[in-house]
Amino acid sequence: MTVVVAVGAQWGDEGKGKLVDLLAERASVVARYQGGNNAGHTVINPLGEFRLQLVPAGIFDPKTTCIIGNGVVVDPGSLLTEIELLSSKGVDLDRLFLSERAHVVMPYHILQDRLEEQAKGPRSIGTTGRGIGPAYADKVSRIGIRVADLLDKDLLHERLEFVLALKNRMLTKLYDADPLSFKETYDACIEQGARLSRYVADTCLMMQQAVARNEKVLLEGAQGTLLDVDFGTYPFVTSSSPTAGAVCSGVGLPPTAVDKVIGVYKAYCTRVGEGPFPTEVKDEAEQTIRERGHEYGTVTGRPRRIGWFDAVLARHTARINGFGYFVVNRLDILDTLPTLKICTRYVVDGVETENAPVRLERCEPIYEEHPGWLAETGHIRSFGDLPPQARNYLERLAELVGAKLAIVSVGPRREDTIMILDDLL
Ligand code: GDP
Ligand code: IMO
Ligand code: MG
Repeated sequence: MTVVVAVGAQWGDEGKGKLVDLLAERASVVARYQGGNNAGHTVINPLGEFRLQLVPAGIFDPKTTCIIGNGVVVDPGSLLTEIELLSSKGVDLDRLFLSERAHVVMPYHILQDRLEEQAKGPRSIGTTGRGIGPAYADKVSRIGIRVADLLDKDLLHERLEFVLALKNRMLTKLYDADPLSFKETYDACIEQGARLSRYVADTCLMMQQAVARNEKVLLEGAQGTLLDVDFGTYPFVTSSSPTAGAVCSGVGLPPTAVDKVIGVYKAYCTRVGEGPFPTEVKDEAEQTIRERGHEYGTVTGRPRRIGWFDAVLARHTARINGFGYFVVNRLDILDTLPTLKICTRYVVDGVETENAPVRLERCEPIYEEHPGWLAETGHIRSFGDLPPQARNYLERLAELVGAKLAIVSVGPRREDTIMILDDLL
């Protein structure tokens, strides 16, 4: 039995999509356990270039079953568009399953997300505007609509009548916005439910059966640990828990089922949206990395903020998730920089610390400097062939993170990969 979780170890966009696509051929099942279409997982493989938002990145392997777990919030329109796009490129979607327990992102959630952001003004989070926060809030408030509800006309009618009346009061009275029509909202839900019905299944049971049959299971995290609603830079976080701990409640497996947790890091840091970012770079290295790395958000196209590798936070996320292994992506983006910095400690209120305090905005980073390698790495396929400065940089990251370096990525395509440990899955 091998159940492996790939978790974003920074602020998202670490390259989880590439890793999952790469490892999927070894897995029987690939499942998403949280988040929604706020995720944008880029995969570049022989079938083309894809930006997946809800469909697991294992979908390109013809033998792999792909599951959207109960912990995910699903925008039905977005999922249907993604399915159509994948089908049009020849990808077989008969292996895709959607949990009947997953909560639905409703049209009023998207409105609410945008109106709340506007109302927060300078305190806005910089969300993706996909309705993710309001959908999770309603789930916890017990007024959510689940995928199973879309398939039951009478139940949906009864639930939506009640919930939409509440939401319309909020839209009109609190935000001075137009109300949503019950008929249009209901009809759209029934139509989308009918189109999605062939994918809907008891995915918890499927996961449990796969584990009982000793199949290899890969869990694909979305977002990153520093966006976790508990352990991230609250309130500048997403509304789910991207950590390994959320796998159990997100797909219906017990904690004892998880064998390995892989941390997915970039060789530096990026962040989209607002919130503290201690190692944010504001000199020429920022432009070099952004332009060389095309650091613009996959979902919203916003320029990503750029920072040096933050080993204090990297250790924090490694401990929370229990990373035994880690992956470093985008090493090639650093090829042209003469000097690299790694933050190893902070000064907080005049005191040095190696641990991440609750309020990151008060941290001054302390850096160690490393010489750059000033050579292209994109063609390199073995660790030993990397320039010595690059090997030293990676070995230092491994020491600081406290996990085994398993894979280094030097480009966006599957083949642009240095496999160091080949027994992850
Ligand atoms: P995810 O959300 O964690 O799946 O990451 P994103 O797909 O949002 O962002 C990662 C970006 O980096 C994508 O455009 C990938 O194609 C790209 N990428 C992944 N690994 C590498 C790498 O090693 N080098 C380069 N140059 N690009 C990479
Ligand atoms: P992947 O899976 C990077 C960020 C948003 C915003 C905050 C809250 O591609 O790594 P939300 O819409 O979730 O309420 O926005 O979280 N965010 C991401 N940043 N990668 C992601 O996903 C993200 N998903 C959400 O930019 O700051
Ligand atoms: Mg992304």
